[in-house]
Amino acid sequence: MRKIKKISTFLNFLCNFSSLGVISCGSNNWHISLFIYSFEDTFMSSYSNQIQTILKDKYSIQVFDGEASQSYQNDQIVSEINNESSRFLLINLVDRLAAKTIVEKVETVNKPIIFLNREPLEEDLANTDNAFYVGAKPESDGLLQAEITNEYFEGFSNFKEKYDRNQNGVLDLILIKGEQGHQDTENRSQYSVSGLADLGYEINVLDTRFCDWNRTISRDYLAEIYEYYKDDIDLIISNNDDMALGAIDFLKEQENYNPEIPLYENFFPIIGVDETSVGYEAVVNKEMYGTVRNDYETQVQIIDKLIEFKLNSYPMETFPYEMDAINSYHTDGIKVSQKTL
Ligand code: GAL
Repeated sequence: MRKIKKISTFLNFLCNFSSLGVISCGSNNWHISLFIYSFEDTFMSSYSNQIQTILKDKYSIQVFDGEASQSYQNDQIVSEINNESSRFLLINLVDRLAAKTIVEKVETVNKPIIFLNREPLEEDLANTDNAFYVGAKPESDGLLQAEITNEYFEGFSNFKEKYDRNQNGVLDLILIKGEQGHQDTENRSQYSVSGLADLGYEINVLDTRFCDWNRTISRDYLAEIYEYYKDDIDLIISNNDDMALGAIDFLKEQENYNPEIPLYENFFPIIGVDETSVGYEAVVNKEMYGTVRNDYETQVQIIDKLIEFKLNSYPMETFPYEMDAINSYHTDGIKVSQKTL
């Protein structure tokens, strides 16, 4: 037993030693562990595929579905932290507040880790060289949603003249939120509304609800409130594309839906975030007026480089991307609308 253990440790040592971390040392090969909070999330599925596409020629990757349960994901993570073959952990947490305990655990075994998409609290990353965060910049996503809205209405005066559906002199909107406590929910919501105010709009949030990034929940939400607000709504801002698409699904069921004209002219504009492939298609089909790209391709490039730098102990001073918070990298959103197509 002891002998086997020794041989496997030696193999691991050889693999660890191979400077580029290329895994081709037989069945004891080490791997990278990728944890996704839920495979049912449209955006995270594309993210996970992109990670595998970019990294698959360099590393072997084991992917875990957290099934939206932090305790279930904790078991997966702990077992990979203790697994000597797992050399690097990429973690999309179910609950971002779980980060602290995980950082403490990886510190004891000196295993590098990147949290992606669900951001730990700043203090959780403060005292470690092993833990990083890579994700979107939700403040910029929100501001760009405001800009896209303004692009459609062409200023508040023009809005009041041509688009104010109940003629009350304010922009009446519905805000569809993602998950409560998620940094993208909080900041996209706040900055889309404050961004519109900064652009000179008077705003009235008619109604808002957490719809957990989910298309069906959002469809049902709109179904519930629509009768009451249908003559007032001037705009729907959604924290992501899937929930925007849920609202669109509902509007397409309405009697006055006319597929011959753009849905935003038929009803009112709906603006999302992500530019998932279904989201992009809805912009092209003139159903969603616009969205903001959640630039996961750049995020995966940063992840790729971080893995390379940490596994090879390269000095972080030469890292090609700039940190914008403690051990963190946030990518800017990119406008996608009828004008940018
Ligand atoms: C957001 C994304 C959402 C959802 C969420 C999951 O950044 O916009 O669609 O995927 O992450 O944490």
